[in-house]
Formats: sequence, structure tokens, C-alpha cells
Amino acid sequence: MKILITGGAGFIGSAVARAVIGKSVDQILILDKLTYAGNLASLRPVADSPLFAFLQADICDAVAVARAFEDFQPDVVMHLAAESHVDRSIDGPTAFIETNVVGTFVMLRAALDYWRRLDRARARAFRFMHISTDEV
Ligand SMILES: NC(=O)c1ccc[n+]([C@@H]2O[C@H](COP(=O)([O-])OP(=O)(O)OC[C@H]3O[C@@H](n4cnc5c(N)ncnc54)[C@H](O)[C@@H]3O)[C@@H](O)[C@H]2O)c1
Repeated sequence: MKILITGGAGFIGSAVARAVIGKSVDQILILDKLTYAGNLASLRPVADSPLFAFLQADICDAVAVARAFEDFQPDVVMHLAAESHVDRSIDGPTAFIETNVVGTFVMLRAALDYWRRLDRARARAFRFMHISTDEV
């Protein structure tokens, strides 16, 4: 199984990557913009694995996201990329709208385009998981 994790340099995404690599998952692609919240050190335990790949990209960048789907061909998407620290939205709400709303829409649209081109068995098995909370 190939899993694409957005926001995988964050708190939860990196823990998922460390937990599943080499167990239930054959290949992982992390797609992360590396904002202030991203921490590559959290991926160090898996970074040298041949099963692991990292792409620095913004989920609002529809071209980069579509290319990631095409190149990687995921079976599962775990979408965790987000502006997650709600206190920051008071001083800087723009990034919250862009990433949490527009970026999530870009991810969903790219996933739908990709899913429509999968064969029947892969389309049936494909999953898009959005992990979020109230501020997202
Ligand atoms: N941490 C918690 O306790 C908790 C609890 C419940 C729900 N959640 C939700 O789970 C999700 C992930 O939480 P977390 O704690 O891992 O978040 P985090 O803030 O630790 O990590 C977010 C990651 O997303 C990346 N990112 C931000 N904007 C991006 C963009 N435009 N494009 C690509 N990458 C981008 C950051 O670089 C970072 O690596 C969020 O939706 C959060 O609200 C978290």
C-alpha cells in the first residue's frame, strides 16, 4: 500500500509515518510546506528508509498536488496539512483560510480527478482521510 501524507512533518503526520513505515505500508510520500509547524527532525528515524520520500510543496499549489498524485499513485491519502494553532488565527487569519479551506479543496479536487482515472479495483479500495478539528 502507498500512502500520501500531507502535513507529514507535523506532530501527528510524522508520528503516523514513524508508526506505519515498513509495517502496513510499502511506500510513504510526505507532502509538506514546512511552515513554522513542520519539523524535519521528527522524520529523521524514517528519512533514510528506501520506502520514504519527502516533497516540499504547498497544498494550495494545484499543479504540484496533481503532479504528486500522478507521480506517486497513492492508495491512501491522509490529509493532515493545516494551520492548527488556533491562537494564531486571531492575528493572521489569511493562512488559515488558504491552507485549511482552499488547500483542502485543492486536495479533494486532485483526489477526485485521480480517483476517476483509477481502474475499478483500485478506485474501490482508494481512501481519502481528512484528519482535522474545529479550527480547521
Ligand atoms: N495535535 C493535536 O492534538 C490534534 C488534535 C486533534 C486534531 N488535530 C488536527 O490534526 C491535524 C494535524 O495536526 P498536527 O498537530 O499534526 O498539526 P501541526 O501544526 O503539528 O502540523 C501541520 C503540518 O502541516 C504543514 N502545513 C501547513 N500548511 C501547509 C500547506 N499549505 N501545505 C503543506 N503543508 C502545510 C506544516 O508544515 C506542518 O508540518 C490538524 O488538522 C489538527 O487540527 C490535531
